[in-house]
Order: sequence, then structure tokens, then C-alpha cells
Amino acid sequence: MARKQSFDEINFEKFSGRRRKPRGRQSIRQLSLLAEEPGRLDYEQTFRDGDLQSLYENGLINELLAEIKSGKEATVYLARGDHGLLAVKMYRDAELRSFGNDQLYREGRAIVDKRLRRAITGNTRKGRSARQGMWVAEEYSKLCKLHAAGLACPRPLAIAGRTIAMEFIGEDGDPAPRLADVSLSPPEAEQAFAQCMELVACMLACDCVHSDLSAFNILWHKQRAIVIDFPQMADFHLHPRAWYLLWRDVENLCASFARLGLIREAENVMELVNERARVLRWQQKSDGNS
Ligand SMILES: Nc1ncnc2c1ncn2[C@@H]1O[C@H](COP(=O)(O)OP(=O)(O)OP(=O)(O)O)[C@@H](O)[C@H]1O
Ligand SMILES: [Mg+2]
Repeated sequence: MARKQSFDEINFEKFSGRRRKPRGRQSIRQLSLLAEEPGRLDYEQTFRDGDLQSLYENGLINELLAEIKSGKEATVYLARGDHGLLAVKMYRDAELRSFGNDQLYREGRAIVDKRLRRAITGNTRKGRSARQGMWVAEEYSKLCKLHAAGLACPRPLAIAGRTIAMEFIGEDGDPAPRLADVSLSPPEAEQAFAQCMELVACMLACDCVHSDLSAFNILWHKQRAIVIDFPQMADFHLHPRAWYLLWRDVENLCASFARLGLIREAENVMELVNERARVLRWQQKSDGNS
């Protein structure tokens, strides 16, 4: 058991959350304070990382168990909290991210503050950090909005800095596979495709276009398609190229399913999705009026 420290012995510099250098993908060991480390305070300090520490202090997580996957922009970890397992998505620091094509997704998102707008366009440090903040906040707010509307996506639990805590999709600590990683029988592929179209229509009925939809961002869990990875989500009415982004999502899905042997024409699918979104919108309205 770690020895409790007196106030004077604590190295606050270490816990201040101030960053000495930008952080990219980090191992669980780098993020956590181990029980035997000097400086660990029982019940008060468990994580070296400020975002994780904040989730811990707010009762969301107790420990990180494993790294689920590291992607282009973020690493997703399996964590344990008082109420079971959860997924923690931690973005790399702004300095270490490429922000590759985020210009396309930023269209249609108004930045009122002139100085901030200039910083973002000029790609200054402040600008990059603002882009990072917007990116993470966008993912969390869209998760909240769409989960509340009944979309099959992970339940959002909390946001802290560049980190999002959400429902873990999987069983006994094993994450659900991505649609891209499973082999489906023809009837299963039909069923999965119908569910994916329902996902697109449900997002559209909420005026959202995923904008990076493919079999890599859909998990297949207990015969259900669950969509993830929302930071680039576009507003259907505000984004000038919303139709293009919607078309691209539908085409990508058709291409993914073609690899599974299920052939569908993107044009027909677009029509069906739009029709279904109209019905869902109408249902939302009549639910709101009753
Ligand atoms: N809630 C979750 N439950 C279980 N696994 C998850 C969850 N969220 C994400 N994952 C896993 O983590 C991977 C990366 O997540 P996500 O796609 O959100 O991040 P990313 O950085 O955009 O990754 P990529 O660049 O691969 O798209 C997913 O492919 C999936 O395997
Ligand atoms: Mg992804």
C-alpha cells in the first residue's frame, strides 16, 4: 500500500496537468501512476494524465485495463468504472496531429471570433489547439444528440479535455469487431446492410451526415450494426457539400458490402435513405406534437 504523503512532500509540478511536451499515443503505464510510485496519493491521484485524472475524480473510471486500438487520430482504451467497463477515446495532442483534411469538415461550422478564425487559418499553435478542442467537442456533442435520438451508437458518458468516455461495445472485455473484420453469411449481410441504411437515415433525420462512414467505423455486435467515430460529422443544412458527403458515405458502404458479396446501387440506396429519413423526421415531429 502506498504511503500517504504530507502536503509539503507533494510534487505539485508533477500533477499540475501542465504539459512539458506534446503527447501522442501513450501506453497504459505512461498514463497511470502505479501503486508503488512515490507521489501517488491513495484515493487522490491515480493517473499521470490530467484528463484521465479528471474522469477518475468525477467517478467515471477507476483504471485502464487495455488498449483497444490506436487509430489515425486517437487511441481507444478499455477502462473499468464503478458500473462496469467503458471505452475511453483519447485524442493525440494538437501538435502531433496532421488534421489532414479537416478543412473540408470545418466548412459550415461558423467561428464567430475573428482572432480565433485567423489563428485557425494561419495554423498557429493557438489555432491548432482550438481545432483540436472543436474536433473533440464535436464528436461528444454529436454522440449526445444522436444517442438521445435513438441512433445505434455508444452511449456518451463524459468529456474531459481531449478525452471522451463512452459505453464500451463488446463482451467480457473483448471489443466488438468492425464490420470490415467480420465475414457474414448472405442473410446476415442483407440484415447488416439494412441496419447500416437505417443508421444513415437516422443520422440524416437529425440533420447529420457522418462523413467518414465505411465498414471501418461500424461495429458488429450481437447481430447489430453500431456506428462510431463522429468528429467529422457535417450538418446537413449548413455544410455546403453535405450532399457530396452523404453520397460518399453511401458509396463507401455499398463498396464495403460489395466485398461481402452484396451488390447495391448507390443511387437507389440514396433514394431509399432519403425516403426513410423523411418518414423518421415526420415521426419525430408528430412525437413532439403529441
Ligand atoms: N465504444 C467503443 N467500444 C468498443 N470499441 C471501440 C469503441 N470506440 C472505438 N472502438 C474501437 O477503437 C477503434 C478506433 O476508434 P475510432 O474509429 O473512434 O478512432 P480513430 O482514431 O478515428 O480510428 P481510425 O483512424 O482507425 O478511424 C475502432 O475501430 C474500434 O475498434
Ligand atoms: Mg475510426
